Amino acid sequence: MNLSVVADQPWDVPADVLVVPVVADPTFDGQLGEIDRRSGGELRALKEFGELRSKRYATSLAGGGELRARWVLCVSVGAVESLDREVVVRVAATAVRRLAGRTVRSLAFWLGDLPTIEGGMSAAAELVMRGIVEGSFDPSQIYLDQVESPPAVLDEVILIAPGADRSAVARAAERGRIIGEGANRTRRLANRSANDVSPEVLADEARALAGQHGLSIDVIGPERAAEMGMGMFLAVGRGSDNPPRMIVMRSGEAGQKDALGRHLALVGKGVCFDSGGISLKPADKMEDMKMDKTGACTVISAIATVAQLAPGTPLLAIAPAVENMPGPHSSRPGDIVRALNGKMVDIINTDAEGRLILGDALTYAEQLGATHLVDVATLTGAVSRALGDLVTGAFGQPQDWYAAVMAAADRAGERYWQLPLVDEYREEMDSWYGDVTNSSSADGSLVKSGLFLREFVTRPWVHLDIAGTAYFRRSRPFAPRGATGVAHATLVELALAGATGTSA
Ligand code: BES
Ligand code: MN
Ligand code: ZN
Repeated sequence: MNLSVVADQPWDVPADVLVVPVVADPTFDGQLGEIDRRSGGELRALKEFGELRSKRYATSLAGGGELRARWVLCVSVGAVESLDREVVVRVAATAVRRLAGRTVRSLAFWLGDLPTIEGGMSAAAELVMRGIVEGSFDPSQIYLDQVESPPAVLDEVILIAPGADRSAVARAAERGRIIGEGANRTRRLANRSANDVSPEVLADEARALAGQHGLSIDVIGPERAAEMGMGMFLAVGRGSDNPPRMIVMRSGEAGQKDALGRHLALVGKGVCFDSGGISLKPADKMEDMKMDKTGACTVISAIATVAQLAPGTPLLAIAPAVENMPGPHSSRPGDIVRALNGKMVDIINTDAEGRLILGDALTYAEQLGATHLVDVATLTGAVSRALGDLVTGAFGQPQDWYAAVMAAADRAGERYWQLPLVDEYREEMDSWYGDVTNSSSADGSLVKSGLFLREFVTRPWVHLDIAGTAYFRRSRPFAPRGATGVAHATLVELALAGATGTSA
């Protein structure tokens, strides 16, 4: 796809389709008025007819009239006061998704009011480009050669930024393209089924990416994991014939600090299938548990994206990959195992497996010299009950590290909500036989999932529970059903801050 930025007026740009973001209750003056006039009054007519609705992400398509574009696609951005970075990405993704099944070779995108977000024209261009790329993702194409409405294959995208510094805006747009492609790489991998992506296949994918992007990689199998003492990781992996893999990727040198003095580690839950193990899940919706590896897919893709944008940035990505299955070798409820950090863990519920593999992965990250940790995981059903599928639950300490991660989230245009680590609840997780249980009463179970992980960190740490946000069960105007790519951009922004030493 060829990407260009022009400073021309939107009506002067030849293209198959011109995208026009329209705010709620538009006054057809200025550039929008001129676009309307040249379209032959189409936009105003659509509005008056009720076809062009003010609801955010509503779309309507009309002929281009005297415009140089054949078609004009209006996308509602909703109230300008609540326009933010997330909305900009989603407006652009909506536009591309609206064109699925059509032949569109060249797409011109007028930025309109989108540069009113923080960061102005460059930020808008970056996020629009990210949205265009993310809007082209279609999971039905993973296994099917022919699909009913395939995404439009765009040969050319022209961003229309009147009066802009074209080279700065083009650089920003290119950055957006790479981050969008990284999110799609996460989604493609996360959507793949469990009979296709075993822990070893996930490791193969990581190896391929490491080769492409000059990253070092170490894949630890069960024998070495046993020698090292990763008892929790092995306890989950042992129920399956597909052996577990601890995937460790690195850019930069071992232990090397970034420009902010951090050795940052991204840790992602890689449960290629979560049947629950002996604490078997009910059949209803169990098929969705192929997505329980999304955290791993996110960190594997994020380190590759960072390597594309700022090669050599010191960064670790660790993805414990397992299949959680019942069988004669499975861990049983009541099994006591020794974690890599030496704690004795009482496995009350084999379905609380994510925290077990993450605990050992977090300890290992610290052993490798990580000074700052972020883990990302589809950890609990409780987080989606609490926050739904649009807001990710987050825990962390100390608060200044949590704030640094949230600053990256703001730059990425992703939404999180902080949940408390309530010290008093920890005693409910005490074990008769060990140091801690992996599951206790349902009261406060979301908080307790965070408290459990905290047992395995001694450094600044943030935990992102993407169980609600990683996977849409229904499609939206801006995204299909399936993996969303959530948190990829946040992790990339966080790591890139250490490439330059600034948080810009
Ligand atoms: N992978 C699940 C969490 C999950 C649920 C992710 C729904 C996505 C959608 C996790 O391993 C799990 O089973 N969690 C249990 C924990 C409980 C046993 C303490 C849960 O949330 O019920
Ligand atoms: Mn589980
Ligand atoms: Zn799980």
